[in-house]
Amino acid sequence: MNVSLGTDSNRAAELLRAGGLVAIPTETVYGLGADATNVDAVVKVFTAKGRPTFDPLIVHLGSVDQLPTIVQAIPAAAQKLIDVFWPGPLTLLFPKKSVIPDLVTAGLESVAVRIPAHPLALELLHSVGIPVAAPSANKFGSISPTTAQHVADQLGDAVDYILDGGSCSVGLESTIVSCLAEQPEVLRLGGLSVEQIEAVVGEVFVKQASSDPGKQADESNAQLAPGMLKRHYAPSTPLVVVDSLAEINLNEDDALLLPWEVSNIPENLERVVLSERHDLNECATKFFAILRQLDASNSNRIVAVRFPEEGLGRALNDRLERASAR
Ligand code: TXA
Ligand code: MG
Repeated sequence: MNVSLGTDSNRAAELLRAGGLVAIPTETVYGLGADATNVDAVVKVFTAKGRPTFDPLIVHLGSVDQLPTIVQAIPAAAQKLIDVFWPGPLTLLFPKKSVIPDLVTAGLESVAVRIPAHPLALELLHSVGIPVAAPSANKFGSISPTTAQHVADQLGDAVDYILDGGSCSVGLESTIVSCLAEQPEVLRLGGLSVEQIEAVVGEVFVKQASSDPGKQADESNAQLAPGMLKRHYAPSTPLVVVDSLAEINLNEDDALLLPWEVSNIPENLERVVLSERHDLNECATKFFAILRQLDASNSNRIVAVRFPEEGLGRALNDRLERASAR
């Protein structure tokens, strides 16, 4: 495999302007970027990922000044969130202008936008000057990439260049918030906690993946509930989620994914502890890389213990639920 990987943001900008695909480091996960205004380039993104075109893309900007060029209006609550959290792991929805092709938004009238907080991504986005559509740089439905090597392993040949910005510091995708209705709504839990958002705009709705199978988003109704696909972020090894290891019969070929150390674990089992110091942010940073590692090990099943439902624990639990869906 002959993957082109480096830190040359000028080269990355040239490739994007020419309609190429560039993997971009961000603080959340790596993105697979293309010129958001170029339909042919955007088609390549869907093809490289094997992503259905009913699943819309996030558009990345280098500066808030660019926002009025692609959106018709900025809701007041969105403006408050922008002022506090951009650049950062927060994606907001806006009524789109026609410069953003329908393919990017899967036909929706709204476009999802964010400014990533990663120096190399910002350098690139500033120098390229065009909006960049970028989903996470993994095959559709599989584990999101948090290093350049993860991208090379999964998408290598399909990408023109991988801009290597090291390991992602947040490690979970951005939180997606819609301020299009009266009360802001979190459409996808992510790297910015609900508590942080509520501190700025007051109480928000949080869209939950429904426990009623009839109401869960799947391929047929994803467009009604984008970002809510039931099975996602999934390893190929089966994964089960438990509140405590006491509730499951462990087998000797299980691997354990633990927020932190717990007592009474059989010694022979493979296990990974995400944060010795009980830090949910550290858990998030390591989560996808460790999930890959466990997926590649010889275990027949990954048993994951749920995180506390606070801070980034909520987003981590959301990823676990989707990773475990069959
Ligand atoms: O952190 C992130 O958000 C990363 C980095 C690369 O920025 N990107 C990312 O993209 O996670 P992706 O494509 O893997 O997930 C984007 C989610 C999708 O589930 C999609 O349904 C939702 O955003 N989305 C995009 N446009 C939307 C819209 N107009 N309305 C509602 N949801 C939208
Ligand atoms: Mg993704």
